[in-house]
Amino acid sequence: MAKEALSTKKEYKRLEDLPGIGSTTARKLRELGFHTIETLATATTQELQRAGIGEKKAGEIICEVRSYISLPFIRVDELLKKQQTVLRLTTGSKSLDDLVGGGLETQTITEFYGEFGSGKSQICHQLCVNVQLTPERGGFGGGALYIDTENTFRTQRIIQMAKHLGLDQDEVAKNIIYAEAYNSDHQMFLVDNADKVINENNIRLIIVDSLTSHFRSEYIGRELLVERQQKLNKHLHKLIRLGRAFNVIVVVTNQVMAKPDVFFGESVYPVGGHILAHTSNTRLFLRKPRRGPIRIARLISSPYLPEGERMFTITENGIEDLSEDDQRR
Ligand code: GTP
Ligand code: MG
Repeated sequence: MAKEALSTKKEYKRLEDLPGIGSTTARKLRELGFHTIETLATATTQELQRAGIGEKKAGEIICEVRSYISLPFIRVDELLKKQQTVLRLTTGSKSLDDLVGGGLETQTITEFYGEFGSGKSQICHQLCVNVQLTPERGGFGGGALYIDTENTFRTQRIIQMAKHLGLDQDEVAKNIIYAEAYNSDHQMFLVDNADKVINENNIRLIIVDSLTSHFRSEYIGRELLVERQQKLNKHLHKLIRLGRAFNVIVVVTNQVMAKPDVFFGESVYPVGGHILAHTSNTRLFLRKPRRGPIRIARLISSPYLPEGERMFTITENGIEDLSEDDQRR
């Protein structure tokens, strides 16, 4: 019986396949950014009502989709199994991987923050290449989606990193989907509509570099702070949903602001306030100790790992562990 029910549910390939969704409603849902069954599972009834679906019907659809994707209540042994489906992606540096428990995790948000030149965008570039490696080499054999807000994405750098790893540069370039976000609303729009791109291109990594720059430059002053935080919150939750629904890695970068009153300890803090601190599951602070290739990463918060620091380098090859020469320096 259960088997039968499961096999009928497997028919849900398009929104139209769901009971009670006709082609007009499906079109409206797509306009609202719901292109796949997976994203409907994490929608709220209010969101579906915007597509002209009644509240009761919206609730039924969400329940149906959730039972198709996964059970809303879950036994802890099953929860453990689900968490074991969390995959880890190598950063290119064993030492940095160690710091985060063996690589960056799917289903959560990882935030890299630090001053200019600290290596945030370089790590993002490297991850786009690494995600394409086979699982034996620490990758997922999948593609990357790169949302660039500062126009700092460099194809040449990707090719350089791909060559070093012995990957076919054309293939690597094909597997990275790039979008430049022109302002914060456009950035949100891109993420709201990313589900289709993710599905169609076997995307296993989503990057937003930088998460906060547009928000920071557009919402200036105290009177706009609440609105900025609300939007940022919505944006982050959408990213988390994508991470969970598609079991992908989500990486965001963030700038820092100076703390004018600090003489000891860290004199900078990340932009975005509490919302980011609560939503990004793993936060890493990057520092550039002196001129040269060495960088320091500090794990600031993680759901289960202790704080700690590790060094890595940015070289022609990309993100790497320290060489013996670097260690002697
Ligand atoms: P902002 O976006 O300005 O806040 O900085 P960021 O943290 O994103 O810095 P980014 O990742 O762009 O790091 C830039 C640094 O990486 C440069 O200062 C170089 O030290 C290093 N870098 C970038 N490209 C190369 C390269 O091709 N070869 C080498 N050896 N180093 C590079
Ligand atoms: Mg950058």
